[in-house]
Amino acid sequence: MSPSSSAIISLLLCYFCLFYLLQSSESSSITDYYSSEDDQPYRTAYHFQPPRNWMNDPNGPMIYEGLYHLFYQYNPKGAVWASDIVWAHSTSKDLINWIPREPVLYPSQHYDINGCWSGSATILPGGKPAVLYTGINAENQQVQNIAFPKNLSDPYLEEWVKSPLNPVIDPNGSNMTDASSFDSPTIDYYTNDHQDKNIAFPMNNLPEPNLIEMVQSTSDPDMIDASNFRDPSTGWLGPDGRWRVIIGSKRGKRGIAILYWSKDFIHWVKAKQPLHSAEDTGMWECPDFFPVSTIAPVGLNTSVDGPNVKHVLKVSLFDNSKEYYTTGTYDYAKDVYVPNKGSIDDIFGLRFDYGKFYASKTFFDSAKNRRVLWGWINESSSADDDIKKGWSGIQAAPRAIWLDKSGKHLVQWPITELETLRTGHVDMPSKLLDGGSTVEVLGLTASQADVEMSFKVTNLEKAEKFDPSWTNAEDLCARKVATVKGEIGPFGIMALASKGLEEYTAIFFRIFKANNNKYVVLMCSDQSRSSLDDSTDKANYGVFLDVDPTKEKLSLRTLIDHSIVESFGGEGKGCITARVYPTMAIGDGAHLHVFNNAAEAVRISSFSGWSMNKAQIN
Ligand SMILES: *[C@@H]1O[C@H](CO)[C@@H](O)[C@H](O)[C@H]1NC(C)=O
Ligand SMILES: *[C@@H]1O[C@H](CO)[C@@H](O)[C@H](O)[C@H]1NC(C)=O
Ligand SMILES: *[C@@H]1O[C@H](CO)[C@@H](O)[C@H](O)[C@H]1NC(C)=O
Ligand SMILES: *[C@@H]1O[C@H](CO)[C@@H](O)[C@H](O)[C@H]1NC(C)=O
Ligand SMILES: *[C@@H]1O[C@H](CO)[C@@H](O)[C@H](O)[C@H]1NC(C)=O
Repeated sequence: MSPSSSAIISLLLCYFCLFYLLQSSESSSITDYYSSEDDQPYRTAYHFQPPRNWMNDPNGPMIYEGLYHLFYQYNPKGAVWASDIVWAHSTSKDLINWIPREPVLYPSQHYDINGCWSGSATILPGGKPAVLYTGINAENQQVQNIAFPKNLSDPYLEEWVKSPLNPVIDPNGSNMTDASSFDSPTIDYYTNDHQDKNIAFPMNNLPEPNLIEMVQSTSDPDMIDASNFRDPSTGWLGPDGRWRVIIGSKRGKRGIAILYWSKDFIHWVKAKQPLHSAEDTGMWECPDFFPVSTIAPVGLNTSVDGPNVKHVLKVSLFDNSKEYYTTGTYDYAKDVYVPNKGSIDDIFGLRFDYGKFYASKTFFDSAKNRRVLWGWINESSSADDDIKKGWSGIQAAPRAIWLDKSGKHLVQWPITELETLRTGHVDMPSKLLDGGSTVEVLGLTASQADVEMSFKVTNLEKAEKFDPSWTNAEDLCARKVATVKGEIGPFGIMALASKGLEEYTAIFFRIFKANNNKYVVLMCSDQSRSSLDDSTDKANYGVFLDVDPTKEKLSLRTLIDHSIVESFGGEGKGCITARVYPTMAIGDGAHLHVFNNAAEAVRISSFSGWSMNKAQIN
């Protein structure tokens, strides 16, 4: 560690001491900021967050020697984003209870002096972790750097060392190791692709099929926009012994995942063509590329390929703050990813979460053979409110993620460890819920709960006709909020409801009949009455669920955690996370109702609810 880094650590430590001192002696406003978060109504009990200040993207999640690590973008200086952001760090045995550690990466070198931005961890052969992250250099360019744990025997990996070879990837290759300085094994490896072993071929010029679409959109296809070049992915190792990573970028309005190769994970060369790109999607942030099994609901090591494997590419679109993914085929020989036919590759495509959820990242949990997804949930309030409460940003519950049996989309489910927090179980016997009726669920802590239920619709013939022009589920949900009566639906729950229902967040279903005689199931999260405070974002969210109500029950699971309502419809086929700030439905003032505001009755075929214990979070 350099002297300047230690200086910054000491500064950080001083900073923390300082506010503890201030807390005990200083004015009440400072005390309010830093000591009372636990009493605030919108702090979460079991969703990950730091004790105070700003958090955004999850970074480098991984498991090392049986211990889970989560790094995250953190501003130690306040509750709003700042570009000179650091990598904060917490560790956990179960992904639920977390112990805070010192931040591991903070601006200290010319290649990251203006910020340590997002990145990913890769477990290298021998079980050695490495993180690649974006640094904002002294010229405000985005470059990619690598760091390694200082002491692999320290299970907490508390100290990380930045490589003296940083930046290992820079936008125009000017500072990258040139091919002549590669050590011989690396040279051999790359020249194996060449007929003539004596050609010392230049960086960025490996023989590859040509890049058609990119050549069209720029005069210099090799030029990378240094202001839009960030968020290196987890690496994967090909059968040819070559590591790959992708980095988010754009060229004009085309979003691109630029591909880099390396033999040793330190010396990188740019592939001639990106792994994938799509017109009119703008800057791709936080690209995540991983294999999924087509035969079992398990996770796969990021480097796995072969029979019964498909690939998923997720990108976070800077232009609309939403994420989209496609399922497709990875062609190792050409080193390109091709979305499946029908897997839409733009803002009409599939999303992990149709609510507030961004900058997500998965990792392969080798201890439990699953792929786990983390995602940042932004606030819905103004920066002024965030400054007042002294913090901003939460992580969604960690979710296992796998390919649905249909092969068409992914399925997500909160990791089973979350169930260890369940307490005070409430059951409801199977029960017919008449149109226009509401049942309050008593006996659980409605502001801090986990509820699972399923509905059975008996009289589907009555379903309203589906208008084929209703292509946007979110718009449809915004028009047909919970108070708009239908034939079949809305039925679902009202979470974080005040006693007189002045406030509630409704999660519900509606069923329509389409022209082809198939049924369309709409799932909505209606925030229009979530708070009497009109300054918060109350956008409504929606998704069409891949569920056939003639054959399947319609299930809903919702995690309620003070200011989060995180819902999983159709056993995890559609997820919606809402961020809400009730003014009355807080603490003991919060209630939970099951409701049916339709003409037709619906059967609650099962209902289980639990109060949730508070997790130890940082
Ligand atoms: C994945 O497989 C590679 C290659 O076999 C191995 O080096 C790596 O440790 C594995 N990674 C994880 C997270 O298990
Ligand atoms: C590395 O970590 C182990 C376990 O915490 C510790 O015993 C050892 O002293 C550390 N080594 C160094 C060089 O700090
Ligand atoms: C590219 O490299 C040249 C020197 O080779 C340098 O002058 C220029 O600033 C670099 N541009 C970027 C975007 O890094
Ligand atoms: C290249 O290296 C020089 C000297 O170390 C540094 O000042 C400059 O910022 C680097 N450029 C890039 C694009 O990393
Ligand atoms: C986060 O939320 C704030 C307040 O609603 C909004 O201004 C900002 O654009 C959001 N950012 C992202 C990336 O969602």
